[in-house]
Amino acid sequence: MAAKNLPPTYDKIAKHAVFPEMTHDEKARYNFIANLNKHLAHVSQGNALAFENEVKPAFKNEHGRDFNSKDELGDAMAKNLHYQSWSALRRCTMEMRQQAGRSLTYRQAAELKEKVDALNAGKDTLILNDDVSPPPYLQAVDNHLMPGSYHTELFEGDVCNAANYDGGLFVTTAGLLGRYSDGGGQAIAQWVKNENSHFQPKRILDIGCGMGHNTLPIAKLFPDAEVIGIDTGKPMLRYGHARAVALGYDNVKFMQVEASEMPFEDESFDWIQTTMFLHETGGKSIYNIMREIYRCLKPGGLTMHIEQPQYTDDMSMYEQWIRDWDAYNNSEPYWSKMHDIDPKDLMADCGFNPAEFMQIGVKAINDLDDGTQKSDEPEDHGRSPIWNVFGAWKK
Ligand SMILES: C[S@@+](CC[C@H](N)C(=O)[O-])C[C@H]1O[C@@H](n2cnc3c(N)ncnc32)[C@H](O)[C@@H]1O
Repeated sequence: MAAKNLPPTYDKIAKHAVFPEMTHDEKARYNFIANLNKHLAHVSQGNALAFENEVKPAFKNEHGRDFNSKDELGDAMAKNLHYQSWSALRRCTMEMRQQAGRSLTYRQAAELKEKVDALNAGKDTLILNDDVSPPPYLQAVDNHLMPGSYHTELFEGDVCNAANYDGGLFVTTAGLLGRYSDGGGQAIAQWVKNENSHFQPKRILDIGCGMGHNTLPIAKLFPDAEVIGIDTGKPMLRYGHARAVALGYDNVKFMQVEASEMPFEDESFDWIQTTMFLHETGGKSIYNIMREIYRCLKPGGLTMHIEQPQYTDDMSMYEQWIRDWDAYNNSEPYWSKMHDIDPKDLMADCGFNPAEFMQIGVKAINDLDDGTQKSDEPEDHGRSPIWNVFGAWKK
């Protein structure tokens, strides 16, 4: 039986034909980081106490008022020793994850490429396009401290960043997304199927599919549908396609496409999904992408977007600020702005009828939870497996 409150050990992760090989010590390193992540979620409770009991009263004493802005609150918290320790350690967990993942994937870079190439050979379901570049906002950032982000290849056909992402996500989420890190995709696929029995999507698009963690559960639950995952990162697409083939999927296509300029015909999809994608889009791109979604969706079609909770007037300034941690410390610079917008306004601006807007909560389906994980675990802000999902039917 698993010990209470500990993350699942790394040997529980599901392997597949292109999953990177790991030595005993590499798995031990991942186990250490996953445990440290889980521990830091508990230590983070002390940030709230430090804020309420020390930082907020001290500021009021000095200025005769409460904080006016998240920036002001953040400047004061940055001087607090408890927060400094937690924040530095949390940053270290991300750096350690990336270092560990890079050293183990680049050690076997040639073998990974060979395995991926063999599975992709002769298939017309992987469509790469040299004319498509990652948008400037992606090229400007090493997303969540992943050197070279999703698109960099150190040699032609390199898939190391994708293999690193595949192995490492389990560590940052402490296994809460399940064996295949696909708990979000499983949850939304089940919601669509169970709550909307009239809806029989035949053509489904997953934008920013990455290596398809959350695309495959949709393809599994809707086996008669054609599912297309698009992304601009060649390593993600190559690796994701090989992984899907290795896992036996034959209804998924992976295409290199930029989401704000999609080559698809008007009204050609029944369902357009994004998962953990919109918070990585910068500048005006979120509007361009949402307009493209509206254009490509059939009347009667559905679009849904899985993200962490939006900031609302009901959410305290402290909570909004702690949820912004990734924006300032984990190379997620678009995170705060995306969570600050009103998703109903965003969708209305891009053509959707506000009356059709909906917002639901889904909890990742975790096939590793054997019931021993306590339900009153503290929330690890920004890493929670309970998501806000917003979307709309196109009428
Ligand atoms: C955080 S990952 C999420 C991957 C996947 N949806 C999942 O749930 O595992 C975001 C992905 O979006 C892709 N991306 C970002 N902007 C894009 C754009 N404008 N067009 C296509 N893909 C984009 C990135 O390359 C990256 O693979």
